[in-house]
Amino acid sequence: MNFPDTNILLLYAVLSICWVVSISWLLCQQKSAIPVIPGSDGLISSYLVALRFLRRSNEVIALGYNQDRNGVFRFARLFVWEYVAIGRKRVLELAAAPPDILSVDEALADTFQTDYTLGPGISHKAVPYRSDAGASDAKPEPLFPARFVLSGLLFHIINLLSDWKLVQIFPASVQVVARTSNRLFVDLPIWRTKLGLAQRILTVNAVAIHTTAMGLTNALYDLTTYPKHISPMREEAERVIAAQGWTKAALNNMHKLDSFLRESMRLNSSTLTMRHKVVAKDGFRFSDGTTIPYGSFVNVPGTATHHDPGTYPIALEADVFDGFRLSRLREERHGLDAGGRAGFFNRHMISTAPEHVVFGHGQHACPGRFFAATELKGMLAHILINYDIKAETDLRPPEISFAEATMPNPQGKIWIRKREMSLDGEN
Ligand code: HEM
Repeated sequence: MNFPDTNILLLYAVLSICWVVSISWLLCQQKSAIPVIPGSDGLISSYLVALRFLRRSNEVIALGYNQDRNGVFRFARLFVWEYVAIGRKRVLELAAAPPDILSVDEALADTFQTDYTLGPGISHKAVPYRSDAGASDAKPEPLFPARFVLSGLLFHIINLLSDWKLVQIFPASVQVVARTSNRLFVDLPIWRTKLGLAQRILTVNAVAIHTTAMGLTNALYDLTTYPKHISPMREEAERVIAAQGWTKAALNNMHKLDSFLRESMRLNSSTLTMRHKVVAKDGFRFSDGTTIPYGSFVNVPGTATHHDPGTYPIALEADVFDGFRLSRLREERHGLDAGGRAGFFNRHMISTAPEHVVFGHGQHACPGRFFAATELKGMLAHILINYDIKAETDLRPPEISFAEATMPNPQGKIWIRKREMSLDGEN
C-alpha cells in the first residue's frame, strides 16, 4: 500500500489548521444578534454549513429564508460572515444605501479578486463602465449586426447539413454572444473614440458575455424542455419582423418572447445577488435597528425569492415554468379599465423589483440589461425563424452550481435543423 508523500501530509495538516483557526477567529470576532442558519451555531456545525454551501447553496439559503421571510440571517464562510436580507422592505433599504456605508465596488473586488485579475485601476473605477453599459442601449436603428453575426456562426455549425445536428449549446452560445456583443460595443461611437482602451472592453466583456450566454443557453434548454412555447413565439417573431423588420421597435413588440425570457431568468437565477460590503465603521443599520457589522457582506436571496409565491404574487405556481404568464398579464393590464384607460404593466424582461432581482435592483441594478435584453430577444427570434430545435432527452440538462453561482449545464446539447422556409430572407 502506498502512503502519501510526507510533504502532502504536512500540507493537509497546515491547511486544516488554517481552516479551523480561521473559522474560530470568525466566530470569536463577530458576535451578533442576527440568527445563524438553523443548526449551525457551533464551531463544527458552522464549518459544515460553509462546506455544504459550496455544493448545495440553495438548500442552505432556504433554511435561513424559511426561518423568517422578512428577516436577516447569517452563515459562516472561510473568513467572513455572509448576511442575507429578505423581503421587499429590506431589499429597498439595501438598494438605497449610500456607497460610504454599503459598497458594491468593494464587494466586487472581493468576489472576483479584481486587484489581482483585472487590476486595481479597473476594480475601483466601476462608474464609467456603468454609464457606458447603459449608453450601449442608445444604438441607432436599425441595429442588427447581431442577427448577422449569429447567423454567421450558426451557419458554420449547422448550414452544411439540412438534417438535424446535435449541438453543444453553451460553448456555441458563448461564441455567438462574444462576437455579437463586441460587434455592438465597438460599433458604438463612444467606443470608437476610446478604442486602444481595450482593457475597458475586456472588463465589460467580463460582466456581459457569460451572463448573456447563460441566458441564451437557459432559454434554449427551457424552449426545448417546454416545446409548446415554440410555435406561438415563432408566429409572433415572424409576424412582427414581417411588419417592422429587424429593428429594436420590432423586438419591443415581441411580448411573448419578453415574457418567456423573464420566466427563464426567474427560474434560473443565482442563489445570492446584490452583494454589498459594509464599509461604515458603525455597520449598516436597517430601519428596524437590525445591524450588519463593519467588514461583512450582505446579499439578497435570488432563487428563494423567485420561487416564493408570497413575494412573487403572479407566480401562483412559483416552481412551474409558464413562459407566457407575463404576456397574459400584459394583455389583461393593457385592456381598458372601468374609466377607459389602458392598464399599467411593469413586468418587462428588464423591469427590476425587490421580488425580481435577476438584474439586481436600485442604484446598482445591471445597467447592461437593456443591451442584454435586445441581444437575447434578437438571437432567440432569429433562431425561431430560421431553425427547428428539439431536446436531446426528456430531461433538461441539470444546472451546475458552486457556492452562490449557478450556470446551465455546459455539456448539454440540443438538436438543431435549418428550416426549409423562413421569412428572414436569408435561406
Ligand atoms: C443576461 C445578462 C445579464 C445578467 C443576468 C446580469 C446581471 C447583473 C447583476 C445581478 C448585477 C448586480 C446588480 C446589483 O448588485 O444590484 C449586474 C451588474 C452589472 N452589470 Fe449585468 N447582467 C447581464 C448583462 C450585462 C451586460 C450585457 C452588461 C454590459 C454591457 C452588464 C454590465 C453590468 C455592470 C457594469 C454592472 C455593475 C453595476 C453597478 O455595480 O452599479 N451586464 N448585472
